[in-house]
Amino acid sequence: MGLYLNKLALILAVLLGTYVFVFGFLKKINEWRYVSSLGEKKHSLPPGDMGWPIIGNMWSFLKVFRSNDPDTFIYNLVKRYGRTGMYKTYMFGSPSIIVSIPETCRKVLADDEQFGLGYPLSTKQLTGKKSFHSIPNSEHKRLRRLTTAPINGHEALSMYIGYIEEIVVNSLDEWSSMKEPIELLNEIRQFTFKVITHIFLGSTAESVMGSVEKRYADLTYGMKSAAINIPGFAFYKALKARKMLVKILQGVLDERRVNDPNGKKGMIDLLMEIEDENGQKLPDEDIIDLLLMFLLAGHESSAHVAMWAILYLHNNPEILKKAKEEQEEILKNRQSTEKGLTLKDIREMYYLQKVIDETLRRASVSFCNFREAKVDVNINGYLIPKGWKVLVWNRGVHMDPQVYSNPKEFLPQRWENHQPRAGSFLPFGAGSRICPGADLAKLEISIFLHYFLLNYKLEQINPEGPIVYLPLPRPVDNCLAKVMKIE
Ligand code: HEM
Repeated sequence: MGLYLNKLALILAVLLGTYVFVFGFLKKINEWRYVSSLGEKKHSLPPGDMGWPIIGNMWSFLKVFRSNDPDTFIYNLVKRYGRTGMYKTYMFGSPSIIVSIPETCRKVLADDEQFGLGYPLSTKQLTGKKSFHSIPNSEHKRLRRLTTAPINGHEALSMYIGYIEEIVVNSLDEWSSMKEPIELLNEIRQFTFKVITHIFLGSTAESVMGSVEKRYADLTYGMKSAAINIPGFAFYKALKARKMLVKILQGVLDERRVNDPNGKKGMIDLLMEIEDENGQKLPDEDIIDLLLMFLLAGHESSAHVAMWAILYLHNNPEILKKAKEEQEEILKNRQSTEKGLTLKDIREMYYLQKVIDETLRRASVSFCNFREAKVDVNINGYLIPKGWKVLVWNRGVHMDPQVYSNPKEFLPQRWENHQPRAGSFLPFGAGSRICPGADLAKLEISIFLHYFLLNYKLEQINPEGPIVYLPLPRPVDNCLAKVMKIE
């Protein structure tokens, strides 16, 4: 009996010791390191929890973003600390402040003086020194003005309508001829990738498409992973993919100079012609970084939004019916001489635009934007310490019941006569970094949905749908579906 009691006491002591070690020491390390070191200023930090050493709160974040309810992440913060709209945390390898109400998000995104970009190291290294993520503000302004003109505004984009239609029609036809269900996102991604490579690489797009696409898959996977350059880690593979892509794009530049001066123009030609104030052209290294960034930013998010749009339509037959009727009406009103869609047709897709806006809100594929405080900043009485990251949680805004009633419901009609108040609709960000591809994305998604609604439907979706809400890293699993032609 005595021996038994001794053993029990020993087990209890070990358990107690472990508890004290884990919660009295391990769990406090981040707090001591980042919060206590601020001295008196620590009292002005917003509420929150710094999580565990090294991983911070990444575990709970990844868990919910791989579940069917990613919003519990922000709802749990609100439940625990109140709707303060600012929470301290440790994520993506840095002490951070999450901001999640419209006014605060807008303030951060609009303020380039006090906040710089704050993307993880892996993103910076993989997009390169001359991508928009790494250049100073003045250079960013100039290059952005020069490079985004051809993809801004519907007039400029109207020249791509025919090409996008061709890819959409062929892709849908191909998917519907497959016997087995397809991995929806992977297939849609190929369509958006074809569009963006055509716009940027012009006539060379076809010849490099295959080799570039596979490398982009690896590159995307490494974007927000830890920057660990050891074989077996996503970042290592992504760096290798980047090297290959640089080589391929250098080959494209060389070939264009020699063989194809009069071929179909793409953004690549414009970048090759740009001159600075001293008449200097951009070095190849810079052109390649810009191309790499545009090709990456220009296909991944659009594919996710297009996929979510058809899933929401599939799950909401009444909305699908209404959206389809609108497209039939457009077809009916078309002049007999017109072969395909025109800019005028697309402008008349009023209901479809609401479906797309609602998809952008509900799916929030770009769930957060990363910034970094250049100085100590006070917002709403809370401190954002210099050097800390600011995670502008778009998804929190889009799913806040005080901003959108019944936020979990897919309701395109909520956009009827609705002008979102500043900072409350952020699918494309805001401020000087607002997405320059928003018009292109909406255009290609509209064309895709037009042909899908008129001629196809979805079947055999795996209902427990291993759909992962993280656009990056790439979903581990995919949504399987059959695309059926409507007879
Ligand atoms: C539905 C699809 C898309 C979504 C949801 C989306 C979302 C975003 C967001 C939220 C930002 C701002 C990031 C920040 O402030 O840190 C951004 C930036 C950017 N996007 Fe998009 N995007 C989409 C499509 C596109 C397309 C089609 C292109 C290419 C033509 C593109 C190119 C870019 C570029 C180059 C930036 C960086 C801008 C800068 O730093 O000045 N995006 N995007």
